[in-house]
Amino acid sequence: MTGLRGRSIRGTFIHAPVRGAVEVLRDAVISVDGDGTITAIAPAADGVPEGTLELPAGQLVLPGFVDLHIHAPQYPQLGMALDAPLEVWLGKYTFPLEAQYADLDFARERYETLVRDLLASGTTTALYFATVHREATELLAEICLRHGQRALVGKVVMDDPASCPDYYRDASAALAVAETREVIDHIRALPDNDRVLPVITPRFIPSCTDAALSGLGALAAECGCHVQTHCSESDWAHGHALARYGKTDTAALDGFGLLGRKTVLAHSVFLTDDDMATVRAAEAGVAHCALSNMYFGNAVFPLRRALEQGLHVGLGTDISGGRSGSMLEACRATAQASRLLEDGVDATDSRETRGVPNSRIDLLTAFHLATAGGGVTLDLPVGLFRPGYHFDALLLDPLAEAGAIRLFGAEPADRIEQILYTASRPNIGATFVGGDLVSGAVPQSGRNSH
Ligand code: GUN
Ligand code: FE
Repeated sequence: MTGLRGRSIRGTFIHAPVRGAVEVLRDAVISVDGDGTITAIAPAADGVPEGTLELPAGQLVLPGFVDLHIHAPQYPQLGMALDAPLEVWLGKYTFPLEAQYADLDFARERYETLVRDLLASGTTTALYFATVHREATELLAEICLRHGQRALVGKVVMDDPASCPDYYRDASAALAVAETREVIDHIRALPDNDRVLPVITPRFIPSCTDAALSGLGALAAECGCHVQTHCSESDWAHGHALARYGKTDTAALDGFGLLGRKTVLAHSVFLTDDDMATVRAAEAGVAHCALSNMYFGNAVFPLRRALEQGLHVGLGTDISGGRSGSMLEACRATAQASRLLEDGVDATDSRETRGVPNSRIDLLTAFHLATAGGGVTLDLPVGLFRPGYHFDALLLDPLAEAGAIRLFGAEPADRIEQILYTASRPNIGATFVGGDLVSGAVPQSGRNSH
């Protein structure tokens, strides 16, 4: 294994510390310590240490992607069953599929494939919903650790008999909280675990009793771990909390003690200005899932408004509400959806009233959110090349014949937007997490032609 722990790597690095731009570190050397953390970044002209991994010219190193919202058990129905609204889709397709993960052999085969595929796609950190099953959730965490993926894994809580089927539900609120606690303890005690964290995961308000929500809020305060849930995703889901509590999802979650610095709210399409102020005050964040929202969201998340109000935002694929597990696709969909929001969609409406002005974001902002934004939202040092950050990266080969990038001789570092729009999986040559090579292979370079 061509690991980078305790070594340096020389090449051209491109990351996005701020919105709307990338920073290109041409012919630089990044030094990585024995724990896989970046210790220094310097021009190669300042010296190249003995044993440095030298990348061939033309290759680019990008930060690995942070998938801020993904349902691991839904991978088998990726690209299927997208015909029904959320509340129908859950009962008709999704709960029956997730229920099968009670069978650990069924779970193992699917989770192994998913984690390998995500690493090959450059997803170095993933915030996962698993299923209600304690054992299969622990299995997912173990598989992530064994394959070297940085992951946050949550046992899904859904205990309300009024909304969850008998065959797929926590037996009681007390048991749901107790099993969540067991999973947290199990993940934290995994041997040599330097990268997998537990997450408190109430599925969403409609599937949980108040007892479960308040029990999980108390557990979050006690354990200090991450929290994830779905928030104001669709008209129906948004309306549920309003009808049940006379307040929004955000306000209700806050009341249950579920909003904090390590909380990630998936979707959040229908956040009001007050909700945004609440999320911001809690320093919680949003996982924006543009592809999924096109099927289930009923509207476009006001991304630019959220950013301008100072919210932490990252991107999620939302497998399988989203039809792709690729974070490159998530970036593209984010930019495209924002354009539709700005222009509007009904051609019979007048140009003046058709859209929401000042809503567009560009692809480089989407890339920033898919990397650095995810790191900030999770409060983890990932998504940037900076001392103190984990060396989580993907090696991009713009010249791979089987890949979709065609540069016709242009300098790759000058074409990052084109590369992000056109790259396909064969362009991702290798993936590193914490300095470990976790997918692909590193090309050997005899040349010194940066
Ligand atoms: N809301 C509750 N559960 C789900 C889910 O599995 N996917 C999506 N997109 N929304 C949800
Ligand atoms: Fe989801």
